[in-house]
Amino acid sequence: MKIHTNITIFGGTGDLTFRKLLPALYTMYLTKKLPKDSRIVIIGRRDYDSDSYRLLAEEWVEKFTRLPYTKEDFSKFSELLAYFRMDLSNQQDYQRLNEYFSQDDITSHIFYLAVAPRFFTVIADGLETVCGACHGKVIIEKPFGENLEAAEKLNQQLERHFGPEQIYRIDHYLGKEMVRNIQAIRFTNPIFTDVWNSRYIESVQISALEDVGVETRGGYYDASGALKDMVQNHLFQILSIVAMERPEVFNSTQMHQEQLNVLRSLRPASEASIEDTLILGQYEGYREEPLVSPDSSTETFAGLRLFIDNERWSGTPFYIRTGKKTGTRQMEVSIVFRRSMPEVEPDILTIKIQPTEGVYLQFNIKRPGDTEEIIPTKMDFCQNCNIIHQLNTPEAYERLLTACIAGERSWFSQWDQIEISWNYIEQLKQLFKEKNLPVYPYAQGMHGPKESEEFLEKAGHRWIE
Ligand code: BG6
Repeated sequence: MKIHTNITIFGGTGDLTFRKLLPALYTMYLTKKLPKDSRIVIIGRRDYDSDSYRLLAEEWVEKFTRLPYTKEDFSKFSELLAYFRMDLSNQQDYQRLNEYFSQDDITSHIFYLAVAPRFFTVIADGLETVCGACHGKVIIEKPFGENLEAAEKLNQQLERHFGPEQIYRIDHYLGKEMVRNIQAIRFTNPIFTDVWNSRYIESVQISALEDVGVETRGGYYDASGALKDMVQNHLFQILSIVAMERPEVFNSTQMHQEQLNVLRSLRPASEASIEDTLILGQYEGYREEPLVSPDSSTETFAGLRLFIDNERWSGTPFYIRTGKKTGTRQMEVSIVFRRSMPEVEPDILTIKIQPTEGVYLQFNIKRPGDTEEIIPTKMDFCQNCNIIHQLNTPEAYERLLTACIAGERSWFSQWDQIEISWNYIEQLKQLFKEKNLPVYPYAQGMHGPKESEEFLEKAGHRWIE
């Protein structure tokens, strides 16, 4: 059989495959983003065959698809699915996989490693002995290693097997519609472009609050915490996009370079400044979550106050916060402008990333009527409000898989970005530990511990709600 694109998913019975990858592939099939003659090989250890796996997959696709599910569509899509049972750590099984692949004439391979990082190397070894990785592309999921050292080792091991141009490191936040929109809003509107600096911007806030707790991922999360789970990757990506200089050309190399320059200019924290740089919290009840240690001090909330030491941003703090069980799901970036007069409210531009996708602008007007009072007012543009079930934007994984098929690399994290952000976060954690700073408890439903309010108040700021 002639197969144009063969997508192999390792970890085919895991949460990520069921919730994100299969629904994304189904939608890509419906919207014709999957190349003609594609096949999706699901690798798992459990005892399924292609038919029984298709039945299982159908339930998940029906539940999580962005576009309407129909039995007919799914049945056509499911013809692309094949289940291949194997043990990831058994090198002989890769021989079988090779034999399976060699039955067909495959033009290009994509290997998606939707598994815990400890399996990356064994899979890389296996693919090497099988078909020299078939010159395919390899998609790696975060967390990319548990710490800097592990990430470095992993990177070396992967690069031993695959060329740098073969490796696609996914950060699904880069696939979100409004994250991609930050540059458009900033660079195509002179009203923003020309004031995008510390002379006009008092502070920048990146806020990622989640309603959910750690759910079934207590084991992973307890060894990770909010800093490594969200800040080191997703939120540092956003920070570097918001703060970067305009690239001469918007291609992946230059974008990447500009983002990197931002991360390199992050002011290192010191023993003296750590208290004003980092605040951590843990939601009440976290220690009773399954697989979480009963005396855990892992943070489920992190707040940061960072400075970028370059000409554009000198003196403007960048605040980041993220937390679980905060009673809301809200991911946004707010640009708080300097006030024209001390007695008026600041202008605020908020780019809403999710669940609402849109742009909010707060500015001042005169109160209507016989008064000179100045009051803040707002313009609130919601991109996905009325069309949520019709024209809803592609889900991040659809974009990223499509980008990978097309070889478009600017949608993926680069190793040097990962390395710098790991380094930065590890230093913060180390200083925090050395200073013996507390992890504050917070009640579920709160936007972090009350101390996180004081953390900003000390600097004359407040979280934008
Ligand atoms: C993942 C984190 O990378 O991102 C999760 O591991 C977090 O803990 C998730 O919940 C948030 O993603 P999204 O797309 O729901 O904002």
